[in-house]
Amino acid sequence: MSNPSLDDQIETVVEKLLSAKSVVVFTGAGVSAESGVPTFRDKGGMWTKFKPEELANFDAFMKNPDLVTGWYSHRRKIMSEVKPNPGHYAVAELEKVFDDFCVITQNVDNLHRRAGSKKIFELHGNIERNYCITCKKNHDLTGNYSPQAIKCECGGLVRPDVVWFGEILPQDQYAGAVAAAESCDVFFSVGTSAVVYPAAYMIIYAKQAGAFVVEVNVDYTDLSHYANQTLLGNSGEILPRIVRKIKR
Ligand SMILES: NC(=O)c1ccc[n+]([C@@H]2O[C@H](COP(=O)([O-])OP(=O)(O)OC[C@H]3O[C@@H](n4cnc5c(N)ncnc54)[C@H](O)[C@@H]3O)[C@@H](O)[C@H]2O)c1
Ligand SMILES: [Zn+2]
Repeated sequence: MSNPSLDDQIETVVEKLLSAKSVVVFTGAGVSAESGVPTFRDKGGMWTKFKPEELANFDAFMKNPDLVTGWYSHRRKIMSEVKPNPGHYAVAELEKVFDDFCVITQNVDNLHRRAGSKKIFELHGNIERNYCITCKKNHDLTGNYSPQAIKCECGGLVRPDVVWFGEILPQDQYAGAVAAAESCDVFFSVGTSAVVYPAAYMIIYAKQAGAFVVEVNVDYTDLSHYANQTLLGNSGEILPRIVRKIKR
């Protein structure tokens, strides 16, 4: 017997969804790739000289706030100029179909919210939010792409509300995400290499709790063996196909 086609695999997933009460979609940078959001290794001119690990940490920020702020300004500008893609919109459509539904994302780009998703756990923060490290006041930096450090009125430095290397995840977001992963019937893992922990534990927790795990990725990942079904392809094509079949 030949291997099932992508169509057959999608049909299997759709059947699972039709009897599911609770659905979780866990996403990584891949879901935003078709929007043109560069990964950390993008061709960002001078930024290719630095490793993200060297910029995305608190010590680097304190040592060279101009450099780190400039890098985030550059990324924020790119993210403000891109649009959600059909993958994000399909996820937002699914939320309307299931009463018990949430997105758990590792992305900081805010594209799920912009596509209309409502219930989102942001494991690594959100680049559109920024706050003063001294007085914790929030700063709206829309349109401010300063190449230099940004100061609060209190004199403190303003940093992005994202999780840097060596920092713990926002505990309310993490706890909510774990509870959702452990109680869903169908769990999607979309566009993530599943190598960044503790985020990648979501896949393992869901599987251990008995969810039907569906992976959507252009390639196999380190955790593909946890998936009941791996759908190989672009999330911006596969997710809308699933949604069309659910709503037929
Ligand atoms: N958009 C963002 O907010 C953004 C961008 C870069 C990095 N990050 C951060 O970097 C870390 C990287 O981990 P990660 O797993 O999210 O990303 P990753 O870069 O490690 O993995 C991306 C995955 O997406 C897959 N992929 C690429 N294009 C795809 C497509 N069109 N459809 C489906 N899959 C596709 C790749 O095969 C890969 O497995 C995360 O912690 C994240 O917070 C976020
Ligand atoms: Zn302040």
